[in-house]
Amino acid sequence: MDFRYDLRDGEQVPGCQLHTEEKIVVARALEALGVDIIEAGFPISSPGDFNSVVAISKAVSEPIICALSRAVEKDIEVAAEALRYAKKGRIHTGIGVSPYHIQYKLRSTPEAIIERAVQAVKFAKRFVEDVEFYAEDAGRADKEFLARIVEQAIKAGATVVNIPDTTGYCLPEQYGAIIRHLKNEVPNIDKAIIATHCHNDLGMATANTISGVQQGARQVEVTINGIGERAGNTSMEEVVMAIQCHHAIPVKTDIHTPKIYETSRLVSKLMNMPVQPNKAIVGRNAFAHSSGIHQDGVLKHRENYEIIDPQSVGVHESSIVLTARSGRAALKHHLDALGVHLEGEELRLVYEDFLLLADKKRDIGPKD
Ligand code: KIV
Ligand code: ZN
Repeated sequence: MDFRYDLRDGEQVPGCQLHTEEKIVVARALEALGVDIIEAGFPISSPGDFNSVVAISKAVSEPIICALSRAVEKDIEVAAEALRYAKKGRIHTGIGVSPYHIQYKLRSTPEAIIERAVQAVKFAKRFVEDVEFYAEDAGRADKEFLARIVEQAIKAGATVVNIPDTTGYCLPEQYGAIIRHLKNEVPNIDKAIIATHCHNDLGMATANTISGVQQGARQVEVTINGIGERAGNTSMEEVVMAIQCHHAIPVKTDIHTPKIYETSRLVSKLMNMPVQPNKAIVGRNAFAHSSGIHQDGVLKHRENYEIIDPQSVGVHESSIVLTARSGRAALKHHLDALGVHLEGEELRLVYEDFLLLADKKRDIGPKD
């Protein structure tokens, strides 16, 4: 299955824009991570974005480089121009398909929207073979209309059809049902790859993406740390590890998981955007155990309380945090690491003192 990293959507975070040089550093890290496609920017939007697409096209060779455009000829021409150095270039074009977008944003009609979509895909095909069509706000679109426009986009030459839940509105069952509907009702659907593109407004982006994959989507559009417009995009590390943990999800990825943690830190540092401590997979506390029962369980057998081996995502080891909730097993574990081996009554007495101190201090460290 293909992972398409959305540098463009991921950068749509107020105050966290990257310079071209920083985007190149991220793009190289994504290449090392094994990302299949990088959406490098929206070239018509600014000279900076145009230059970033050119520079990333030169800097990386393995991933496909994708450039965004609206269903507007000038956008598509500029996207094609920005991709001229890409070894494998893709134009991503599309249009809004929900009643909101058709009526209030585009002030158009469903038939005219299909026509614009078809013309945009055909125009993009003049420049590149690989054209991804996005049906913006598909999550709130009429399913029959969505099926019709997807069919026409594929007929016009789209190689990938992107089904965004632009507003993060869908529940997992609903999003999966949209993908299933397209699989069942679009006669030429086997001529294109279906892509998921989910936003996290209800905290459902990962669940919706997985639901889409279970119904046949074979490209997922994601960002590291789930960064992106508003509440963000689908978090790449969550999807990768959900696939690794659940063999019932019938896909494989080429993502080199031990590089996940360092890539997460890199993105966080360059964007000056801290990762929430309890963020799945990459948060500071994702592999930290603080309650006595859990600590005892992890020390006896890691899998008692961990479904992922931290080293598999590049985290050195799980941590046993010493707090007033910790038990004797955790204290002993830390003392042993300091070369102080206590048992029985001696350990009990030290543990009593430890609890008195832990009630006063939040965390206890080796100096304590
Ligand atoms: O969320 C969205 O609909 C988008 C499109 C431009 C693909 O980002
Ligand atoms: Zn988006």
